[in-house]
Amino acid sequence: MEAIQAIMSRRSIRKYTPEDVSPEHERQLLEAAMAAPSAHNRQPWHFIVIRDRETLDGIPEFHGYSKMLKEAPLAIVVCGDTEVQTTDFWIHDCSAATENILIAANALGLGAVWLGVHPGKEVIENTRKHLGIPDHVVPLGIVSIGHPAAEKPPGDRYNEERVHRDKW
Ligand SMILES: Cc1cc2nc3c(=O)[nH]c(=O)nc-3n(C[C@H](O)[C@H](O)[C@H](O)COP(=O)(O)O)c2cc1C
Repeated sequence: MEAIQAIMSRRSIRKYTPEDVSPEHERQLLEAAMAAPSAHNRQPWHFIVIRDRETLDGIPEFHGYSKMLKEAPLAIVVCGDTEVQTTDFWIHDCSAATENILIAANALGLGAVWLGVHPGKEVIENTRKHLGIPDHVVPLGIVSIGHPAAEKPPGDRYNEERVHRDKW
């Protein structure tokens, strides 16, 4: 799929078929994530790849908007290492990596949705506990991934009012 088409047709997909996501696709998603830009090229990200059913099913117990994980064969938790990127730039870096996963998933014919974790203090702590994440690493979000069981039309969000030319 062409890049602009992959960006413009991406939607949040929350329903999946029982089909597994192949290791080749998993690798491509992770490569896309790590191709993201990062401040000073620090690449402060870590990715927790979850396929274990119990671990996936445990997340909706503490994350209120993640029920689709009970159907998803795969999730990737995007985490930022605050010892590698000591300013808030880790948030930008990991967000860029997350968006790359979403676009790559769409380009590969997969369906995915970004589940926010940061900056919710309680959900961060619960995610840390659930996955054994160390204190200097912050889970930014979780990407739920599978083969789509739902189709959504591309949105048209272009809004000229949000475009400011030369000055505000
Ligand atoms: C930072 C962030 C956090 C989000 N958290 C959730 C979430 O917890 N659960 C969920 O179902 N969708 C979540 N979403 C997806 C949004 O609801 C979705 O992107 C938005 O409604 C626009 O729809 P679209 O992605 O289909 O274009 C999140 C998106 C972002 C960027």
